[in-house]
Amino acid sequence: MSEKKYDVSEVLISKEQIAEKVAEMGAAISRDYEGESIFLIGILKGSVPFMADLMRSITVDAEMDFMCVSSYGGEMRTSGVVKILKDLDSDIKDKNVLIVEDIIDSGLTLSYLKEYLGARGAKSVKIAAFLDKPTGRKVDLQGDYIGFEVGDQFIVGYGLDLDQKYRNLPYISWIK
Ligand code: IMP
Ligand code: MG
Repeated sequence: MSEKKYDVSEVLISKEQIAEKVAEMGAAISRDYEGESIFLIGILKGSVPFMADLMRSITVDAEMDFMCVSSYGGEMRTSGVVKILKDLDSDIKDKNVLIVEDIIDSGLTLSYLKEYLGARGAKSVKIAAFLDKPTGRKVDLQGDYIGFEVGDQFIVGYGLDLDQKYRNLPYISWIK
């Protein structure tokens, strides 16, 4: 059996476009939370490059932590329940939580997490997603800060993977 070769050569969003957009998002977040502090929660592993860039463009006091979640096999498609593989290390009571995610597709992961974090007493829970794929949506869920909208394509790069590969691409591409 020959190994399937994927063509990821096309640059959909360049390194320069990413940098410019993330700086804009950081500026908007810094304005909105002026005089407050913020608790960034990155969703592993896809959010890592976005989190690293975004946090450095935020000028208000910021703490950070990570969560790792996975779906319960096929069950998540209907129930939206996710399995928490790594929970928060610290308390988020009365904090302004900003979930940092690579992409919103069905919206199931984030709608579950929003409710979960709200139930832990956060003062506010908002979402910053680098990409939004509105055509994939299965629940009514909107991000508060979105970098780019993408079409019905399978996206890789800048943290996004196909079978754990391509996360390290410094630009956004898609699988043909
Ligand atoms: P959902 O919004 O609950 O469907 O889940 C979003 C998660 O699915 C993201 O955090 C990604 O890990 C993954 N995902 C969705 N669309 C893509 C894609 O186009 N490329 C890579 N991963 C994706
Ligand atoms: Mg993910």
